[in-house]
Amino acid sequence: MQIRNITVLGSGIMGHGIAQVSAMSGYNIVLRDIEQQFLDKAIEKIKWSLEKLVSKEKLTNTESDAILARIRTGVDLKEAVKDADLVIEAVPEIMELKKKVYAELDAVADSRIVFASNTSTLPITEIANTTSRPQKFIGIHFFNPPQLMKLVEVIPGQKTAPEIVQMTVDYVRSVRKEPVICKKDVPGFIVNRLFIPMVHEACWLKQRQNQTLEQIDSAVKFKMGFPMGIFELADFTGIDVIHKSTIELQVRDKKVIFPHPDVERLFNDKKLGQKSGEGFYKYSDSKYERVQLGEELAKKCNPIQLIANILNNAAWLVTNKASDVAEIEKAAQLGLGLKKPIFETAREFGIKNIIAELNGLAKEYGQFYEPDPLLATMQ
Ligand SMILES: NC(=O)c1ccc[n+]([C@@H]2O[C@H](COP(=O)([O-])OP(=O)(O)OC[C@H]3O[C@@H](n4cnc5c(N)ncnc54)[C@H](O)[C@@H]3O)[C@@H](O)[C@H]2O)c1
Repeated sequence: MQIRNITVLGSGIMGHGIAQVSAMSGYNIVLRDIEQQFLDKAIEKIKWSLEKLVSKEKLTNTESDAILARIRTGVDLKEAVKDADLVIEAVPEIMELKKKVYAELDAVADSRIVFASNTSTLPITEIANTTSRPQKFIGIHFFNPPQLMKLVEVIPGQKTAPEIVQMTVDYVRSVRKEPVICKKDVPGFIVNRLFIPMVHEACWLKQRQNQTLEQIDSAVKFKMGFPMGIFELADFTGIDVIHKSTIELQVRDKKVIFPHPDVERLFNDKKLGQKSGEGFYKYSDSKYERVQLGEELAKKCNPIQLIANILNNAAWLVTNKASDVAEIEKAAQLGLGLKKPIFETAREFGIKNIIAELNGLAKEYGQFYEPDPLLATMQ
């Protein structure tokens, strides 16, 4: 299957970025939103981004003009998908809205057109089954911002045809991204299944061991190979994103997360992280500001509970045949910026010690903490 024309539904944070990276690789794009003013803003953002690339001499003016010329905009759905080979949907993460959008889309899109959803947390199979073409429906999870982030998770639904998976992988490579296939449509896919539960676990660690945010974050950065602390990363991502993902993951599987009330409390208090000036930390202005972390502070915190949590979730993905160790490490490196493989860090902490930690936590707080069977085979 040859893709030439792509329609992107939704021109927000993700949609405009996906449109831009696709146009930069030669695809013809139609960007569709519900109001022209949103599309105009999206084009402004794309222009700004291309101008930056021109000023850094990564693009010539002629190339930039050609990329922009490949992006058309429109609010009429039927017109927008008329020539599409692939539709990438990036409308807000609300199941009812997505289903409504797919019902409208399915009614006007030719049966040969493939549908791909950029959802972060919603079940691909469930959305696919509301359309007439679940075999031509797939998850394609770009990370924010699509212009910079290398990773794209590809998630086949239960009925997705193998050639559609291959076509999607080829498309992802063609826009110079690294695909990681999440072989099963599991809650959180790969990266969010590792990341979101760990935010909650860090809140529990803080509470149970009376640690400070900075001590935990220093340990996460200097002992677990994260590019920044876990609370820092949560603030950077947005507490609203973390909270909404938590709800969606919980709806699908009660065992993914042991939710800590602090996340919901911050969300209710509108402390959404960097963007609102306060989340776990306070920020003096809207610019990205680094929290002061250090190796001395890291010495005050043993993050074994956190490495046990991320390792247990990674192991769950392997045991449930959603992924394998190499692909998980690739996703963690490219999606979370991990400088050291999870399984390597875990071995440094000692698999035996991690199993003992999890068994101890399970005894005290319940079966959520039970070690995945894979861990016993790793000793
Ligand atoms: N923001 C992130 O960090 C991030 C990362 C990865 C994936 N995602 C996922 O990408 C999707 C989009 O998220 P976002 O952050 O870009 O949202 P956003 O709110 O920035 O943009 C959504 C856009 O969709 C438009 N829209 C609403 N209804 C529409 C319709 N019927 N047809 C066309 N457009 C419509 C809105 O007007 C808006 O411009 C979600 O599923 C989200 O989970 C987001």
